[in-house]
Amino acid sequence: MDSTLASVRALLRQASRIAALTGAGISAESGVPTFRGAGGLWRNFRAEDLATPEAFARDPKLVWEWYGWRRSLIAEAEPNAGHRALADFEQRGRDFTLITQNVDGLHDRAGSRNVLKVHGDIWTQRCVACGREREDRSAAIDGVPRCAPCGAMERPGVVWFGEGLPESVWQRAQDAAARAQVFLVVGTSAVVYPAAGLAGLAKSAGAAVIEINIAETPVSAAADYSLRGPSAELLPQLI
Ligand code: OAD
Repeated sequence: MDSTLASVRALLRQASRIAALTGAGISAESGVPTFRGAGGLWRNFRAEDLATPEAFARDPKLVWEWYGWRRSLIAEAEPNAGHRALADFEQRGRDFTLITQNVDGLHDRAGSRNVLKVHGDIWTQRCVACGREREDRSAAIDGVPRCAPCGAMERPGVVWFGEGLPESVWQRAQDAAARAQVFLVVGTSAVVYPAAGLAGLAKSAGAAVIEINIAETPVSAAADYSLRGPSAELLPQLI
């Protein structure tokens, strides 16, 4: 492992254009449960059962209860050493792009300034009728929040299965992946597309792909380096 870490450090030192894609695993050591694997279920529902426009249309209260539960866990959580390592990296003045599937805001709280949130932000909510968006950082959600001006239901400002990603954010994520010399894939099961496709895009554009995960994923076989272990331990050793 030591020689692998040394090789990855050297790659990162030499690269002038780097991008990273993070997923729920980077926040696991902050106490935020991942979607898949142990602890991923909420009342026996999978993310795919609740994070959809159909689930919200059927039972908005249930969907908001789930988001309320996630918000209360996230509100208690602190960024960990993995988030902080990526924030430090950004401050070193290189061309570094942080792309995250996470909606928890822990990268921002760790000090990252340019975070491409391809799946939105759990602390925003959007009116289903007039589209008005606002930030609401209260952890407890009582029933279904309503839009103050028009009275219609608000939904979480996140991307659900079957929905498109925010266009300009997604474009910037693809551009960063395509120009990166090194592409880090951290704590994601890499099964949810299109975000999961960024590693392949980076690789086919010539980047070295480095995966950091406690388990094997569909990215592992094609990665130039697959580092097995918790990101809060490994990232500070690399960066
Ligand atoms: P998942 O829950 O699918 O995967 C979490 C990954 O993190 C797994 O591969 C774990 O092995 C890994 N992991 C867990 N603890 C770790 C640690 N301490 N260090 C490193 N790796 C660790 O989460 P995502 O891949 O982020 O989308 O899920 C993708 C999307 O599916 C989410 O953005 C969300 C979800 O449904 C939407 O809601 C649209």
